[in-house]
Amino acid sequence: MSARAGSGYRLGPLEQIPLGEGRAFAIDGRQVAVFRTRARELRATDAVCPHAGGPLADGQIDRHRVVCPLHGHAFTLTDGSCSTGDYAVATYPVWEEDGQIVLELAEVRRDEGAGC
Ligand code: FES
Repeated sequence: MSARAGSGYRLGPLEQIPLGEGRAFAIDGRQVAVFRTRARELRATDAVCPHAGGPLADGQIDRHRVVCPLHGHAFTLTDGSCSTGDYAVATYPVWEEDGQIVLELAEVRRDEGAGC
């Protein structure tokens, strides 16, 4: 559940996402995965892997990438590019504000079919 307020959608408290994990959110008809890296950065990508629909929010992350749990394609958290296949995901601006996760639905980048 999300609520639009000010310049973004408020997705709830930051603590709902443990460090090093992701969570999926339905926002205005779109599935978005929000990640909280162990470096305490927030990142957001499409939640559905473009390869075969894997749940990216359940993937393993490090500071730079999320690895899809189904077949292992890795997507860069900052621009959505893929290092292991011919796919890419959109990324979204996301930040913390007063202890809440706030996300702007405007895509940072989407290069469908871009080479990896
Ligand atoms: S569904 Fe994500 S790599 Fe295949």
